[in-house]
Amino acid sequence: MSQDHETLDNLLRENRTFPPSTEFAENSNITADLYTQADADRLGFWEQQARELDWDTDFTEVLDWSDAPFAKWFVGGTLNVAYNCVDRHVHAGFGDQVAIRFEGEPGDQRNITYRELMGEVSKAANALQELGVTAGDRVAIYMPMIPEAVVAMLACARVGAAHSVVFAGFSAEALRSRIQDAQAKLVITVDGQNRRGSVMALKPAVDEAVAACPSVNNVLVVKRCGNDVTWGEKDVWWHEFVDQQSEEHTPLAFDSEHPLFILYTSGTTGKPKGILHTTGGYLTQVAYTHRVVFDLKPDSDVYWCTADIGWVTGHSYIVYGPLANRVTQVIYEGTPDTPGKDRWWDIVERHGVTTLYTAPTAIRTFMKWGDELPGSHDLSSLRLLGSVGEPINPEAWMWYREVIGGSNCPIVDTWWQTETGGIMISPIPSVTATKPGSAMRALPGIGLAIVDEQGTELGDGHGGFLVLTQPWPGMLRGIWGDDQRFVDTYWSKWPQYYFAGDGAKFDDDGAIWLLGRVDDVMNVSGHRISTTEVESALVSHSSVAEAAVVGASDDTTGQAIVAFVILRSGMDGADGTELVKELRNHVATEIGPIAKPRQIMIVPELPKTRSGKILRRLLQDVAEHRNIGDSTTLADPAVMNLISTGLEASSSDN
Ligand code: PRX
Repeated sequence: MSQDHETLDNLLRENRTFPPSTEFAENSNITADLYTQADADRLGFWEQQARELDWDTDFTEVLDWSDAPFAKWFVGGTLNVAYNCVDRHVHAGFGDQVAIRFEGEPGDQRNITYRELMGEVSKAANALQELGVTAGDRVAIYMPMIPEAVVAMLACARVGAAHSVVFAGFSAEALRSRIQDAQAKLVITVDGQNRRGSVMALKPAVDEAVAACPSVNNVLVVKRCGNDVTWGEKDVWWHEFVDQQSEEHTPLAFDSEHPLFILYTSGTTGKPKGILHTTGGYLTQVAYTHRVVFDLKPDSDVYWCTADIGWVTGHSYIVYGPLANRVTQVIYEGTPDTPGKDRWWDIVERHGVTTLYTAPTAIRTFMKWGDELPGSHDLSSLRLLGSVGEPINPEAWMWYREVIGGSNCPIVDTWWQTETGGIMISPIPSVTATKPGSAMRALPGIGLAIVDEQGTELGDGHGGFLVLTQPWPGMLRGIWGDDQRFVDTYWSKWPQYYFAGDGAKFDDDGAIWLLGRVDDVMNVSGHRISTTEVESALVSHSSVAEAAVVGASDDTTGQAIVAFVILRSGMDGADGTELVKELRNHVATEIGPIAKPRQIMIVPELPKTRSGKILRRLLQDVAEHRNIGDSTTLADPAVMNLISTGLEASSSDN
């Protein structure tokens, strides 16, 4: 965390604050009362949020925490998530409101009203049932950002099957392991996706993965790009099979604790964790946070969250929260630089986007591309900006505010995790005076503390470990198939607290500053990647004997992956440049291009303690070009010299 501390020191000199404008505050019905209400009666507060949803059977108890840390929220209640996200808006007279304004990368556009969405989701739900998918089954979704991805997720929710969305940038191998872990019965995918002006085939990765997954009975394929595909006996075309289904489908009500989805995320060991979310509590929290944090005005806002449905942000703030709240939202398929580097600003202007929710890594990229690109578009429709995924540095925050927001939009820096399901720390834009770079404070209803190693709560002006002190409705209910790992990972350091794995600090005013991960998990462009996962991928290559991976700070991506590898004996004569290239590609094949190391250094030794633990801190010093820190606990103190000398000799390799 050394780099993060340096960032913190900068941040602490930050004394600008930006209160909401009078106009913004006056036009919002969200006030500071929310904090008072939640503080006075936390469970009553959550009950009130849950009552915003349509329940088929009312719940009898708000929270059952008797089997902690396994929570049950809104006990005894039943509801259908897809009904809450779609049908009820149609029944309330909003069938003609556009739910999704889709824009494909090549420029194709499609508006889908809530009534049309209800028809599409019903057809897909009928199709799933005809393919034998029933409540409690798992369905893997491997799709780009097209409306059918949202329809597929909602159709699963409608029939009570848990979806496991796998980011379409992940490799066949990553897809295979996730399908197998969840024992998915069906995979929903596309022929190909449009990326950066060309068609990228997706089906071949599915074919490769499914060949090793006997649990899969069918593969449902959306024709997006019309590229050639190999057709197998399990394959079914969406346009042939789903489109001929009835638009009528009666949603069943499921228990509040019925599984809604599994989403795999990186942890400190190699195996991704299947984070399990359930029905009533999750939907309550994502709808509430989306309404409050984005000051939602369903009749006039045009909302755009630029995340991918492969990540939790896409689940909670494209699909479930926004649709439960009847938004009109933009969904864009492609990359921000196609056909020009102003594509996003062109989209904001043409669609009149009011609310933009994106990641610091994107903001920093746009900063690098220059002010002229957003400057050449009319962005005056924007009224609120959001940030998520990693700490946003004050410079990027100020640029976002001034250049994108015209100094006129509050910024909500939202902290949360795949595990928390929804936003936990964020300003409330109509209430909070924000500081550039701070996520400010816990939302009403959330119990949070910053503690020291002993678990003692720290006050203003102090930093330590971020913990959640009270169960919350959207919390993960476990790790798929591994209850013990759930307890060990999140609840063992201090059994009374959920440990988020992040460091944080209260400043003298009590504002929260996130300090990054304290475990062996990197944050690359807002995506969590475990060092162990990349190390395992490297070691699976025949020329690598040992590997150590660290996250080094990077101006654009927040952190970048830097790997140190020891080659197997007999590899001394290998062409370093070629081998490094091969290893980077190997990691991309094993995990996905997102995990490709920025740099791979071939070294003769790794710094280890006497007990054999790699001292990543020292490698991080090397990766970030700092003087090497305290190396007295090394088994062999000469090792760092060896590494540094070796690097000088091989620096041309990278
Ligand atoms: O380290 C924190 C960082 O992202 C982690 C969660 O990653 P993931 O589960 O992939 O979810 C990302 C989207 C919610 C956290 O443990 N993180 C997320 N948001 C912020 C953040 N760090 C600082 N500031 C944030 N706003």
